[in-house]
Amino acid sequence: MKRLAIFLATAAILPASLPAQAQEELAKKHACFACHAVDKKLVGPAYKDVAAKYRGDSGAEAKLVDKVKKGSQGTWGQVPMPPNSSVPDADVRALVKWILSQK
Ligand code: HEC
Repeated sequence: MKRLAIFLATAAILPASLPAQAQEELAKKHACFACHAVDKKLVGPAYKDVAAKYRGDSGAEAKLVDKVKKGSQGTWGQVPMPPNSSVPDADVRALVKWILSQK
C-alpha cells in the first residue's frame, strides 16, 4: 500500500516537472542563461517578468519566437538581445512556451 502511494505520488509529479526540466536544459544548451534567469533580471529580463508582461496576450508566443530568433531591442531597456539564429525553430518555440508558463 505504501509503495502504491509512492508510485502514485511520483506519477503525479513527473509529467509536470519533466518537460520543464528539459526546457531548462535547452535554455542552458543555447546559452540563454548567459543573459537571463527565471526570477531575476540579469542582462535581459527575468523570464517571470516576461511571462507577466505578456499574460493574456494570445499573440505573444508567435511574436516572441520571432524576437528570440531575430533579436530584440527597446522593449525592456536599451540593451539589445542579439539574434539567436542558430537555435532550431522547434527549440525556440519550446523555450518561448516555457518562458511564458513561468509564474
Ligand atoms: C547576450 C545576452 C542575451 C542572450 C544570450 C539571450 N537574451 Fe533574451 N534578451 C536579452 C535582452 C537584453 C533582452 C531585452 C531586449 C529588449 O529590451 O527588447 C532580452 C529579451 C528576451 C525576451 C523578451 C522579448 C520581448 O520582446 O519582450 C525573451 C522571450 C528572450 N529574451 C528569450 C531568450 C532566449 C530563449 C534566449 C536563448 C535562445 C535568449 N533570450 C538569449 C539578452 C539576451
